[in-house]
Amino acid sequence: MIEQTQISTPIIQAEKLVKQFGQTEVVSAIDINVSKGQCFGILGPNGAGKTTTIRMMLGQSPISDGQLTIFGLQQPQNAAEIRYRCGVVPQQDNLDPDFTVSENLKIYARYFGMDSTQIERRIEQLLGFVELTDKANTRIDSLSGGMKRRLSIARALINNPELLILDEPTTGLDPQVRHMIWARLRQLKKYGKTILLTTHYLEEAERLCDMLVIMDKGRIIAQGSPKQLILEYVEPHVFEIRAHVKSLSEKIGSLANTSMEIIGDSTYVYTAEQNSVIALLQSEPELEYYHRPGNLEDVFLKLTGRELRD
Ligand SMILES: Nc1ncnc2c1ncn2[C@@H]1O[C@H](COP(=O)(O)OP(=O)(O)OP(=O)(O)O)[C@@H](O)[C@H]1O
Ligand SMILES: [Mg+2]
Repeated sequence: MIEQTQISTPIIQAEKLVKQFGQTEVVSAIDINVSKGQCFGILGPNGAGKTTTIRMMLGQSPISDGQLTIFGLQQPQNAAEIRYRCGVVPQQDNLDPDFTVSENLKIYARYFGMDSTQIERRIEQLLGFVELTDKANTRIDSLSGGMKRRLSIARALINNPELLILDEPTTGLDPQVRHMIWARLRQLKKYGKTILLTTHYLEEAERLCDMLVIMDKGRIIAQGSPKQLILEYVEPHVFEIRAHVKSLSEKIGSLANTSMEIIGDSTYVYTAEQNSVIALLQSEPELEYYHRPGNLEDVFLKLTGRELRD
């Protein structure tokens, strides 16, 4: 019973939140509810408004309209307390290049009023957590992209925050670092932290997020758990056929619970009738195809389209 109550405690509540830059509205009356202990994802193409939303949550960008509370505290009136209880990994690393790894953490820890013994202990623990212990005395410009990202995560944890906000934590990182970061975020969730993240890696959102919203042009166009969204928007099976064969397309197109899309050199078939599609494909043995389950990327592309955004 107690656990139930805790799980539903709201950590972030945004109601009709709006952001305008001059005449341009870049966040349009969005509602977001994040409960304690959740890993919540904000997905969306470039320019959707994800970073702007996060900046309003952190009191870094004034709210144009709507209501926003974090830990039940109204933003921006309580910006300082909210900031004190959050950890932040910004989209662009902003580590201080003139200092070493441990000095970067030390400077940050001092903002939070920790004493030197506490700071030493915390830094040792956090460097262990992100596997950077042997880099403690290395200067920032000698670190790889993955190491800088891990250090930013360690820095975000220095004040033992209740809410961790990560803006594209794994962009540009190799699979090893990405998997390591995923494991650490899952561990933090087990410790009861609430996590809000943005990502362009849909498999990352699928693995980590309990709930997510998809934003486009400042609006929320879908929300739910990854499983719910996949069930709601895509068929369970996808066949990517590396060709367009008119006669085959006609036969596949006449199957029930099946839709098709031609993109570039490929035909995409979304279906609940996998055996019928496989039987039809077997009649064209020279065709190359890839059969996979419907995923969050299919949902994302279906809802936001395939046009490039810059
Ligand atoms: N300071 C600013 N002044 C004017 N427009 C801005 C400002 N900051 C962001 N924008 C615009 O607001 C929109 C949303 O930007 P935002 O950075 O929030 O998008 P995003 O979803 O984080 O994109 P990305 O995936 O590329 O990081 C964009 O059109 C951007 O150009
Ligand atoms: Mg952004």
